[in-house]
Amino acid sequence: MLRKEQNDLLTQTGPGTAMGRMFRSYWLPALLADELPENDCPPVRVKLLSERLIAFRDTQGRYGLMDEFCAHRGVSLWFGRNEECGLRCSYHGWKYDVSGQCVDVPSEPEASGFAKKIKLRGYPLVERGGVLWTYMGPPEAQPPLPEWEFIMVPPAHTFSSKRLQESNWLQAMEGGIDSSHVSWLHRGDLDSDPLFQGAKGNQYNLNDARPVFEVAESPGGLYIGARRHAEGGHYYWRITQWVMPSFTMIAPRGHHSVHGHFWIPIDDDTCWTWSYDYHPIRALTTGERDAMRDGKGIHVRYVPGTYRPLANKDNDYLIDRVAQKAGRTFSGVDGIAMQDASLQESMGPVVDRTRENLVSTDNGIIMARHRLLRAVKAFTEKGVAPPGVDAAHQKVRSAAIVLPPDVPFTEGARDALIARPEVAPASV
Ligand code: FES
Ligand SMILES: [Fe+2]
Repeated sequence: MLRKEQNDLLTQTGPGTAMGRMFRSYWLPALLADELPENDCPPVRVKLLSERLIAFRDTQGRYGLMDEFCAHRGVSLWFGRNEECGLRCSYHGWKYDVSGQCVDVPSEPEASGFAKKIKLRGYPLVERGGVLWTYMGPPEAQPPLPEWEFIMVPPAHTFSSKRLQESNWLQAMEGGIDSSHVSWLHRGDLDSDPLFQGAKGNQYNLNDARPVFEVAESPGGLYIGARRHAEGGHYYWRITQWVMPSFTMIAPRGHHSVHGHFWIPIDDDTCWTWSYDYHPIRALTTGERDAMRDGKGIHVRYVPGTYRPLANKDNDYLIDRVAQKAGRTFSGVDGIAMQDASLQESMGPVVDRTRENLVSTDNGIIMARHRLLRAVKAFTEKGVAPPGVDAAHQKVRSAAIVLPPDVPFTEGARDALIARPEVAPASV
């Protein structure tokens, strides 16, 4: 449970808010590289942290992210012409380069130097791992580029997607660190989804619906351990990584790829759910890639031409009450991603955390909120860079591991929780 002012603090991320300023300390995923597939391709509208922006790729392949609206009289540059190293407004022809600098005002004599004085707010946009990353904070505090393992492995090893989520970022992120719901909400999918099925760990999950949670602080956030019974008195541990502000990595299953999310505020009522899948030591197979594109695992199918899920709140997520009654799915909604999103969106855009009744399985969520509150206080009052900005905090892995009962997971899985190139993940 949070007080109203704490809930407001954590859920409001627009310009000038404390949490919004802290989010602007990080490199954030802004677009899939595929959204700007070639030089001089059409520009793309992007809304992040309540700012309306336009992204484009110029004649020389440089990426830019800047204010969506022309400095002349506020026309959207989405209608602009992307040509000859700049985006030209379709109304009176003012032209901007990738930094947002105005380079041509056709009505004014070039000698007047007028264009030089006009600049739109612009942010860097950099491709890494098939994702375009932006940094929206003060230039003097810009950290080195992100080093999450899913963007550092060879391109053949990794796959990312994004989907529109019609809820605040925090309740979506809290779903990502709440592994107690897996034994309920997703129980029908563990043995049917091609990206999950066949793992020995699935049986431990299904046989023990009362996991015991142990949460420990990590350099960048939290290790969230969920312990279930295995054979011979041993424990099956699923260890989720949460790195501030909103990166999560779910424990792997068997030989499958490992996956997780980023939740990035679009505004206070919607967010992008980024979903990545990769394998540290092998290429994804054609079958896996096809399944991911087809919306299996943590990915979704879309309304054509958009990143809105095909099953969405306007069609009640295509709920199938027959499948629910028959036990094929627990909630009646198909697919792991929309099972999560449907319930998180059902809470309303911003859930009222003053009215919750939390239990011991919510410890990960409680600790994450406290860590965020602490970090935002230190950042706002003393300018302390928040956890997760440092690339060393990003070199993490989730793990699934069977340990003797007397070994704490933070010791037994110590090495497995660090991303090391060409080392296999710990997975059951
Ligand atoms: S509004 Fe863009 S050039 Fe006039
Ligand atoms: Fe889930």
